[in-house]
Amino acid sequence: MIILGIETSCDDTSAGIYCTRRKVMASVLATQIEHRAFGGVVPELASRVHLKNLPPVLRATLEDAELELSDIDAVAVTHGPGLLGSLLVGLAFARSLTKAWDKPLVGVHHIESHIMANNLERDMVFPAMALVVSGGHSQIILIREPGRYELLATTRDDAAGEAFDKVAKMLGLGYPGGPVVEKLAREGDPDALRLPIARLGDGSLDYSFSGLKTAARLAWEARSAVSDCELRDFCASLQKAIIGQLLERVKRAVRGRDIKAFYLAGGVAANRALLEAASNLLEPLGIPVFAPSPRYCTDNGIMVACAAANHLRDDREPPPIAEAFSRGNLASWR
Ligand code: KG4
Ligand code: ZN
Repeated sequence: MIILGIETSCDDTSAGIYCTRRKVMASVLATQIEHRAFGGVVPELASRVHLKNLPPVLRATLEDAELELSDIDAVAVTHGPGLLGSLLVGLAFARSLTKAWDKPLVGVHHIESHIMANNLERDMVFPAMALVVSGGHSQIILIREPGRYELLATTRDDAAGEAFDKVAKMLGLGYPGGPVVEKLAREGDPDALRLPIARLGDGSLDYSFSGLKTAARLAWEARSAVSDCELRDFCASLQKAIIGQLLERVKRAVRGRDIKAFYLAGGVAANRALLEAASNLLEPLGIPVFAPSPRYCTDNGIMVACAAANHLRDDREPPPIAEAFSRGNLASWR
């Protein structure tokens, strides 16, 4: 089966073609640089740019896969959570393709796509646990099998990616901040600055990054002159604090649970220091740790197609697509 996936939940316009036998056939991404001048994503602008980008992105995807639209068996599209205007543009585009070519349309939850990106380069094993960390989410999810999810932790304020982005903006490093912070952190001293790791104190596994953001701002403002070396140390200390909090919860979440693998997912999973730290924590406990290649961690259409493959398994009729939604938990989706 050949599935076209379309992703427009935030500021990346992307399409991918997934074949249940050959896996990735094409993956094309148009990142919206139009937001850079604003230091963050402008929702209204994102919808307009998706509208402009989708036809050429689709054309390039089909060309890369050397396919025609008529070769596609089903179209999968992210229908939430995300920016409502952006989701609606992707949904309308996908729906028009399926109406014109009389193919099934599958709606996919964005978090499920991020998790299933792990299935693109290897076969996932279950039961498993995932840490989904992106610009909008920080969640620990127990996966009994594809389609059966239990939410163990979420964030009470900012997401991990937001913590990277907001502090990077303050440092004048542009948007998105995560990749730049990771690069600078490689040559910095992670122990140069002590930044706090929030502990919620009620046994909860939930995350909170707002205190870290404030502490980082106060520490930054307290500096007089800032050298390149200090900037690198600052990034390394920030990255250490974010990873420290992420994994402090993971350590407690895996305790007493019989899982065969741990998967990192979402844009922040592109951070190789996080992968290394998670492997150092979990592999001695007998839990192998995996993350998709960085290009499949951040938003992309191929992960949407890959997630849809489970919903189309055994030639089942795909569930009817609901409308776009801006917020919503994967565990209670559908
Ligand atoms: O999954 P994604 O593309 O979009 C959302 O669903 O939010 O994630 C984007 C987030 C941004 O916050 C970006 O700064 C972060 O992922 N990110 C990283 C890295 N690459 C992307 N954070 C840390 N290290 C990276 N290498
Ligand atoms: Zn995402």
